[in-house]
Formats: sequence, C-alpha cells, structure tokens
Amino acid sequence: MEIDLMIEHAAQLVTCASDGPKRGAAMGTVAIIHDGAVAVHKGQIVAVGRTDELGKKVQPRRRINAQRKVVLPGFVDPHTHVVYVGDRVDEFELRVRGASYTEIMAAGGGILSTMRATRQATPEQLAAEARPRLDTMLRLGTTTVEVKSGYGLTTDSELAMLQAIELLDQTHPLDLIPTFLGAHAIPPEYSNDSDGYVALVIEEMLPCVCDWYAASPLAAKGRPLFNDVFCEQHAFDLAQSRRVLEAGQARGLPAKIHADEFTSLGGVELAVELGAASADHLDVTPAHERERIAQSDTVGVVLPTVNFNLGSHHFADARALIDAGAALALSTDINPGSSPCPSMPLVMAIACRYQRLLPAEALNAATINAAYAIGMGKTVGSIEVGKQADLLLIDVPDYRHLAYQFGGNLVQTVIKQGQIV
Ligand code: NIG
Ligand code: FE
Repeated sequence: MEIDLMIEHAAQLVTCASDGPKRGAAMGTVAIIHDGAVAVHKGQIVAVGRTDELGKKVQPRRRINAQRKVVLPGFVDPHTHVVYVGDRVDEFELRVRGASYTEIMAAGGGILSTMRATRQATPEQLAAEARPRLDTMLRLGTTTVEVKSGYGLTTDSELAMLQAIELLDQTHPLDLIPTFLGAHAIPPEYSNDSDGYVALVIEEMLPCVCDWYAASPLAAKGRPLFNDVFCEQHAFDLAQSRRVLEAGQARGLPAKIHADEFTSLGGVELAVELGAASADHLDVTPAHERERIAQSDTVGVVLPTVNFNLGSHHFADARALIDAGAALALSTDINPGSSPCPSMPLVMAIACRYQRLLPAEALNAATINAAYAIGMGKTVGSIEVGKQADLLLIDVPDYRHLAYQFGGNLVQTVIKQGQIV
C-alpha cells in the first residue's frame, strides 16, 4: 500500500486507544507500542503497529524517524474562552494583594470587564486577538480546542464571537469546536433582572445562534455546537441554568455546564439528568453528586490551572471521581481571568501533583476523554485507524516525562491532519 507518511521507530507509540471515554482502571492504561510506527494517508491514520511489521505493509512517500522519542495523539482542550479582547493583569495584581475572584466579579470586574473590551470588536478583530494564543497552544501540542462565546452578552456580539470561532477554524491549523455561552454573566443592562436576561438568551439569542450554525461551515463539517451556562452565585442559579440548557436541547444543542467552581448549587445533578456532554470545574462537588456523574455518560472536566491561578490550595477531587468510575477529562480553561494558561502539559503536571492523577490518567484525560467531552471521540483523541492524523513527537524516552517535567516545552513536532505544522 502506497501512503503519504510513516512515522517510525518511536520508543513508545502511545495510542490511548479506546471505543469510548475511559473510566476506572482503564484510565490508568495508555496502550503503548514499543518501537512503534503509524502510517498516514490523506490526513488520516491508516495503520498502527510495530515498525518492523508496518514497514512490510506500506510504501511511504515520506518517512519521519522518531529516533526513539515518544509519539502521542495531539491534545484536545475541551473547555476554553480563548476568544477575547484585552487582559486582566490589573485584577491579577488585586488578587495578589488579597482580593478574591468572586469579590472582583461581584464589583463588576471579572467577566464583565472582558465583556466591555470584547463587545465592540468585529469577528475579524476577535480572530486576530485569539490567533497568537492558538499558535502557542499548537506549539504546546493542542490540536483540537473547544471555544466558548460569552464575552459579548448581546445577540450581535455573541454572534460575532461565534463568527470569529468559525473564521479561526477555517484559517488556523487547529480544529475549533464552538460553544454558545450567552449565559456566562448577567450584563449591566440586566443587573436587576437576571430572569429578563435569561429570557433574552432563550427567546432571542438561541434562535439566532441556531440559524447562524445551520448555515455555518462548522455544521457542514459535522462539528457539534454546544450550549453552556455558568451555574454559580452571582451568575445563573439552578432554575435559570435548567431553562437555558433545556431551551438549547429543544433546538438540538447538546448541553454543557460550568458547575461547582465556587458554590455547589446542584449543577452536576442537573447535567446528569439532562444527559449533558460534560460538567466542568467540579471543585466543590459533594460526594453524592460525584457518584451521580460517575454512573452517567456525562464527562467530568476539571481545570486545575484555575485553582493554581487563583492561588488556591483546593482542587477538584479528581482522584475520587476516577475511583468512583467517572470519565474524567482535563482542560486549560484558557481565559483572561481565571486561567491565562495555554498549556495542556502544565495542566497535566498540576493534576498529577495536586489531584493525584497518574501520568497515564492525566494523558487519557487530555486526549481521548477530552475528545469525548466535546463530541469528537470518534474523530480525534487517540492513535487509531480511521482517526485524523493529529500526532505529537515528544522529545523524551518515556511519556511520563510529560507530566514529570514542567515549565518548558517538550513538544518537538506537531502533525495536524498528516501535515507538519
Ligand atoms: O471557566 N467561570 C466562568 N468562566 C470562566 C472564567 C472566565 C473569566 O474569568 O473571564 C471559567 O473559569
Ligand atoms: Fe469556563
């Protein structure tokens, strides 16, 4: 068989292969092929195996000798707010001086300060702001990224954010998965009428967003559009969160939720009841709700760079979630306030130290499980025949170095749909 590309002689070809999101003991195995090789044709993976065996089956036009380094699937970052304007470096300093994220938020800063900077921007300006961040993420090994709206909070500016996501997907090597997050914060116009804002999200924004999506190249490519809500004190309460998510589901949008970042309001229970694709943050989720998500198909997404960035010593109990049988994923949550961090390897490094994930668990959480958290589990997230050839060459002899070392960049080469980028 003649093929475009073969990557051969990987010390470890770490496939993360799985038919579904990994849970329990399966999270601790990554399926390693020693002296491994992967064959790529037309951007897809066409064969995986030992170098000597694969070498007999395929005639590659191009070969990359991995020279006894590690080959991994590209990272999937399943929760980001990477499209925004401006920064919140002043708030960072306030927090260093002792102010809390929620105090800053309640005083009209936080998400609303980014909203003020983002609202006026055109889709082209928004895309130009986000592009260098995506470049950095790609260099750090992320090949698929979920991106949320939610800094516009008017119908037009939420649509502009979604259009920027579409534009970036068309013009940047990364694949972007869009999420509508109209219910991210209550904008100043509705500060005394949160139910009025929820009605605007449901009655005006959602229909417009669905019309935009139906005509978008993202829908034509089969990319899902998720509908998300920030279920939190000073944001949306449980009843409002339910209304937003049910209204999206009635229009065909799968649900996601920001739940239990600071306050436990029952968001995980709601996510499970609605069959949400994921419930994210889970920092203060009580044990009985951990059990509920563990027994469901909802993926738990934890975001430890948020805790780190907020100077907190408290992290989501990811160990208990895995031990209870939940499908767990990791994400950067990259955004200008709670996590200005583009790096999935740093997320893994923190998860291993403060959440007691094994390196294998962290890697599965950053690849195959993250892909399932955004509806892309059949396309990306592992090195398996038929999947997109999104591959990383890591300059280490053993994949565990990825979580063991931190602060630099061990990613030597990124291959996106069969092309070196
Ligand atoms: O996931 N919690 C809500 N949204 C983001 C924060 C966004 C921001 O601070 O700008 C999060 O942490
Ligand atoms: Fe978020």
